[in-house]
Amino acid sequence: MTAPSPRPLSALPAGPLRGRCRVPGDKSISHRALLFGALATGRTTITGLLEAEDVVNTAKAVTALGAPARKTDETWEVLGRGVGGLVQPDGPLDFGNSGTGTRLMMGVIAGHPITVQLAGDASLSRRPMGRVLKPLKQMGLEVLEHKETLPLTIRGTSDLVPIEYALPVPSAQVKSAILLAGLAAAGETTVIEREPTRDHTERMLRYFGADVRSVRDDGLTRITVKGHAELEGRAVTVPGDPSSAAFIAAAALIVPGSEVTIEGVLVNPTRTGFYMTLQEMGGDVAFLNEREEGGEPVADIRVRASALTGVRVPAERAPRMIDEYPVLAVVAAFARGRTQMDGLAELKVKESDRLAATAAGLAANGVEAVVDGDTLIVAGAGAVRGGGTVATYLDHRIAMAFLTMGLASREAVAVDDSSMIATSFPEFRGLMERLGARYT
Ligand code: S3P
Repeated sequence: MTAPSPRPLSALPAGPLRGRCRVPGDKSISHRALLFGALATGRTTITGLLEAEDVVNTAKAVTALGAPARKTDETWEVLGRGVGGLVQPDGPLDFGNSGTGTRLMMGVIAGHPITVQLAGDASLSRRPMGRVLKPLKQMGLEVLEHKETLPLTIRGTSDLVPIEYALPVPSAQVKSAILLAGLAAAGETTVIEREPTRDHTERMLRYFGADVRSVRDDGLTRITVKGHAELEGRAVTVPGDPSSAAFIAAAALIVPGSEVTIEGVLVNPTRTGFYMTLQEMGGDVAFLNEREEGGEPVADIRVRASALTGVRVPAERAPRMIDEYPVLAVVAAFARGRTQMDGLAELKVKESDRLAATAAGLAANGVEAVVDGDTLIVAGAGAVRGGGTVATYLDHRIAMAFLTMGLASREAVAVDDSSMIATSFPEFRGLMERLGARYT
């Protein structure tokens, strides 16, 4: 895959951000709706699917596996093949920048007697796949190369063996890959997790008719799926992505005089750690009109600019806000006092080493920040100088976090590349500009 040419962009100090907006559909739920639709029999319709590069790559992949996914008017539809019914694709599947698409698909392919080449961009090709391949190999998946990074060729089987697997890292992607393989296995497959990770797979598999049980006991959650499952095509509604909304919420908090309401955002408790942390810092952040849509809790999130104080963010909270640490670090720079974020090991293996990239971006803009093992400490001074250029390493969230910083710092903040924002939030710039942000 050829890399797009880098597109530098600068965020300029802005006046108050004001208004109401909606963010695009949740990325995690969008990937799952396409994949589960492909594994179901009959037609799945998806309203509010995130139309960003990562998800479009998953749509192309399920189509190549014989389950056509396409847009019809405002909704998407997938014509499923049933568990075990996907077919050999003609060529390699390219997942671009997406770890979620790749890892969940590995679990899907495991249960099919097909041989598939998986590829991705330079960022994805550096990311660890061993964490998914190890349990899937125990179940019967074959990996044709002796390595654990893309590009890889894998061969599934219709004779998968069920396993019981304790997650060595808190990862919803690993959990989901095993559960998806478990759908095709002969018997019950169990995943055990200590820190609860996002549970969209469990919720949506149940909605599609799979037998999935979650039991929390003695500090552990055991999630069991019954094999030889039959899923039925369903109508899925995708709520707004709280990880995309995080940038808007952060901007509204740190640009003086702002008030913004983001409508229809997913507030599943496995995803709201960032918003809880903002409230602990003194942020005026309210969940209004809480309701349930498509089996997931949803709310309108209202954020008003606030004076913030540094806090300590406990390690146990990390899985509930893992994608929000770069933008939390930016918010912490505008708070008064020290913010300490513990338990960030997983940040090092995201689209970039986000721990290093965040610390470097802060330093480039005059913010004092220290990385100590898996802990990030930001010394908040109540204001930020800015004026720096941030290296983004093909990472959409590093780009958006620092484009948020520039709206409230004394001098503009530049990122070396904004093209990757299209992987998760193509509307980012336009949406922010409508609220009053300025970029050049
Ligand atoms: C995701 C899980 C998380 C998260 C990613 C989406 C998912 O990754 O960072 O953006 O949809 O399951 P890990 O499972 O690697 O923690």
